[in-house]
This record gives sequence, structure tokens and C-alpha cells, in this order.
Amino acid sequence: MKIFIKNIKSLYGTHSQDVSLVKGANMKALPCLENAWLAVENETIAAFGSMEDFEGIEDWRDLTIIDAAGKFVLPGWCDSHTHTVFAASRAEEFEDRLNGLSYEEIANRGGGILNSAKKLASMSEEELFRSAFERLNGMMQQGTVAVEIKSGYGLDEENELKMLRVIKRLKDEHPIEIKSTFLALHAIPIEYKERVNEFVALMVNEILPKVAAEGLADFVDAFCEEGYFSVDQMNQLIDAAQVLGIPAKVHVNQFNIIGGVEAAVKRNARSVDHLEELSDYDLQVLLAGNTMPVALPSCSFFLRIPYTPARKIIDAGLPLALATDFNPGSSPSGNMNFVNSLACIQQRMLPNEVVNAATLNGAFAMNVQDVLGSIAVGKKASFFITKPLNSLAELFYYFGENNIDQVVVNGNLVDSKAN
Ligand code: NIG
Ligand code: FE
Repeated sequence: MKIFIKNIKSLYGTHSQDVSLVKGANMKALPCLENAWLAVENETIAAFGSMEDFEGIEDWRDLTIIDAAGKFVLPGWCDSHTHTVFAASRAEEFEDRLNGLSYEEIANRGGGILNSAKKLASMSEEELFRSAFERLNGMMQQGTVAVEIKSGYGLDEENELKMLRVIKRLKDEHPIEIKSTFLALHAIPIEYKERVNEFVALMVNEILPKVAAEGLADFVDAFCEEGYFSVDQMNQLIDAAQVLGIPAKVHVNQFNIIGGVEAAVKRNARSVDHLEELSDYDLQVLLAGNTMPVALPSCSFFLRIPYTPARKIIDAGLPLALATDFNPGSSPSGNMNFVNSLACIQQRMLPNEVVNAATLNGAFAMNVQDVLGSIAVGKKASFFITKPLNSLAELFYYFGENNIDQVVVNGNLVDSKAN
């Protein structure tokens, strides 16, 4: 499909091809071209420029022309942290929480991740695939073009491999760019409650090599937290995966600071995610490393826990990415637009910073920055056109609205009928 978009009010995110992430004060700058055109051919961005210098189209055959007068074009959202493959909602726990129970109290009663694992064990690969496929369609219609998906509701070999095979099939069959993460250490099954080290050994020594041999994981992950997995247990996983050539993206500092940031950064993790709690020492460690911090504001919103201190992170000179954490327990929404509004309203991020965090930095957090995350010639043609807006700020200011008009993924217009 060939597409030519003309009269774009502003074409945002035109970082030069060699920029792979944006950090610190540079996050306030979002390169853009006003009154622009954009040409798509063979699934990639073929060219773009200013309408003033436009020299005409050579070959009009099979060309779809879109007039974007009054509208903006942005690179599609890159959602680098999700648990999009799951069996069912946990709306029953939602009511428990409304009645006053905390996430921790629900987990201690056998709810939480163990509840999702029970539901997943009785669901077929086919059903899991179909429900996740539908969720991805919804995310795509909301402007998301790349998604990282974790396992972690299997908790045993059969069900972890089942989840990872579902993710592999989604990679093959869904147009969204997908990265797969083996979340080996997510929760402790009841039968291992007194033998956590045995569970870690099972995951690290027996299941991880099988996952690697089948090529099912781009990353590994652990929930490093009091009551879940220690820094040492997370390190065992990261070190074993490193030998197999699989980098880590980890859940750290969601509720408590137990040293996970330092351990992960020292081991060159691709990203450290959550960081609702963050010490000045953690900031110094991050500044000395190459790991992307990732904030998940819809998780903070849903659980009523502190927001990741985005201002502190960016003002210290660090990069930051934003993601949904889509999962049935702590963030039952895959809507990046809502995440972005929260980042402005609750974390005081500026619209330009939010776009950089949700596009190029999100792409970096899952290692797709060479093909996605900005508007650059040769990158995948995966972007969206907004409804008519007066300013970029309005995209986030009108929170809860669908401000996106059309989405293009890999050079194809996404059917928006379901919107
Ligand atoms: O990122 N914190 C750990 N994992 C998920 C929650 C998973 C669940 O509750 O099902 C998170 O918040
Ligand atoms: Fe998560």
C-alpha cells in the first residue's frame, strides 16, 4: 500500500535516525515539521517534507491520499511493559479493594497473581491467543504500534511455555510489533511457599534453558519485591539469562526499595520498571548506567499508590519511558492515551516529554528503537493522525477522549470500525 498524507498541521517526532533515546532536558524538545507531507511505501516511511517545497508525485498508481489539514501526525505509541496475555479479569478483587483491602492483603489471601495463574491453567492456548489478539486490536486502535508482552501467569513449565507460545503466535499473526518476555519470577506458588529457592532453581536451571532453546524470549523479568523475590534471586535469573544472550527488564521498587535498581543496572538490564519508590542513591546508580527507567502511571492510579517521581528522574538528567502495565490485577487498561494524560496531570510531565517517553524511549526500553519510535526515513510506517486539535497539549488535556482519527501500522491503515 502506498499512502501520501498532505497538509499535516505538525509532523511530530522527526528525530534523526541515529537518535536512539532522549534524556534529561532534551526530553523537553520534540522535533517537528509544520505544514508537512509524509509518504509511505512498502511498509516504511519513504519520505517527508514541507508542503512549501513539495515537488509533486511521480507515480499516482495505487496511491491512497489523506488530507490531514488541522491534524497532527505522531509516531505510534511504543508500550514497553504489558501482561496482555491473561485468562480473565479480576473484577472480584476490584470490589474487595473498594471495600478496603490492599493489593498486598488480596495477594496474601491467595488472590492476586496466583488467582490469575489458576484461571490461566484451565484456559486453552487457542482461547488465550484469541483474547490477547482482541486486546491488541483495541490497543492498536488507540495508537499503539509496538508492545512488549510478559509471561508470568503460568508459574510452571507447561503453563509458562503455553503463554510464551501464545506470545510467539501473536508476533507472527498480529501486525503490531511484539517483544516477548519470560517473567520467570512473578509470584511464589503455594506449594513452594517454604521452598522459594527450589522454585527459583526450577525456573532458572530447568525452564529458562527450554525457553531459550525454543527462542521464546527476547527478555527475562523478575518481580523483585518484599514477599516476592529477593535481589539475590533476581540476580540468579539475570546472570543465567545473560549467559544465554537474553537481557533483562525487571519489576523493581513498586512498593519497597530493596536494592533491585542497583543490581539490575549493574547487570546492564534493558529497563527497570515501576520505581514508585526511588532513592537518591538509585538515581545516581541510574545516571552511571545504560538502563531505561520506565514509569507505569495507570498502575499507580488503579492501586492508589505513589506515582513514579518523573520530574525527579528527568530533572536529574535521566531518560524516562511510559508504559501501560496492562494486566488484570494492577492496571486493567492498555490505553496509552490515558497513561499519557496521567503523566501530565499526576507526574507533571510536559506534552513534549510525554511524547518522547511514549515513543522513542518506549521503543528503546524494548530494543525496537532502530525501526520504530520516531518519524525517520526507512523506519516502519507505524504512526497515527489525530483529530483536528489546536495544540499538542490538547491530545493529553482532553483525557479519556479518543483524540486519534486514523492509525497506520506497517504502512496499512487500521480499520477503526470498532472505535
Ligand atoms: O506490574 N507487580 C507485579 N506484576 C504486575 C501485577 C500483576 C498482577 O497483579 O496480576 C505489575 O503491577
Ligand atoms: Fe508489570
